[in-house]
Amino acid sequence: MLAIIGAMDEEIELLLADLQAREDLKLPGVTLHRGTLDGVEVLLTRGGIGKVNAAMTTTHLLVQGATRVIFTGVAGGVHPELRVGDIVVSTDLVQHDVDVSALGYDLGTVPGEPPAWAADPELRQVAVQAARTVEGVTVMEGRVASGDQFIASPQGVARLWQSFGAACAEMEGAAVAQVCAKAGVPFVVIRSVSDTADTGAPVDYREFMPRVARHAKQVVRGMLARL
Ligand code: ADE
Repeated sequence: MLAIIGAMDEEIELLLADLQAREDLKLPGVTLHRGTLDGVEVLLTRGGIGKVNAAMTTTHLLVQGATRVIFTGVAGGVHPELRVGDIVVSTDLVQHDVDVSALGYDLGTVPGEPPAWAADPELRQVAVQAARTVEGVTVMEGRVASGDQFIASPQGVARLWQSFGAACAEMEGAAVAQVCAKAGVPFVVIRSVSDTADTGAPVDYREFMPRVARHAKQVVRGMLARL
């Protein structure tokens, strides 16, 4: 079954309104919504903010039978060409806030885990096709850097760009990726740029959320039609 995790309330509400034969599963720490979206059986949920919530939500989805996972939400643009509204489809994901360098590990590497988690090629391709139907935005494939931090400074952007080659910064994707990879379940992360992670990020983030939530809905429905 296909699982869709949305980061935003606004985005989940737009998709929930269209969910047919809806059944709510109240589980410890999360509610999953099972139903049919455009004829496809899905599990839909709001993931909450941060890597812990993302890992917990993903684990619940896998236990309930998810065999593919799509995560959509917003991100701070790190790649210099990204503008607010643009869409990033993940090539791979890193945890930029992990630092076990004192024990000789590269920055971002969790001991015993790969340095990055690769998104599924087929889901990536379908996501890119669906994202290209959103008018007036650039669709970029790139690395998504996740950490339990809202990045809002030029120094923060420079660190993610120089140390990780990240296209964008967010707070959940790599946790979803790590859990899915352990279970051998394909995943992709799709992020709309709500800000450019610099000093104006808090203001931009709030202002652009509603528009970006509509983009996310369009991308998810475009993917459903192509899967
Ligand atoms: N999500 C949206 N914008 C972000 C930022 N600047 N940093 C981290 N997560 C974000």
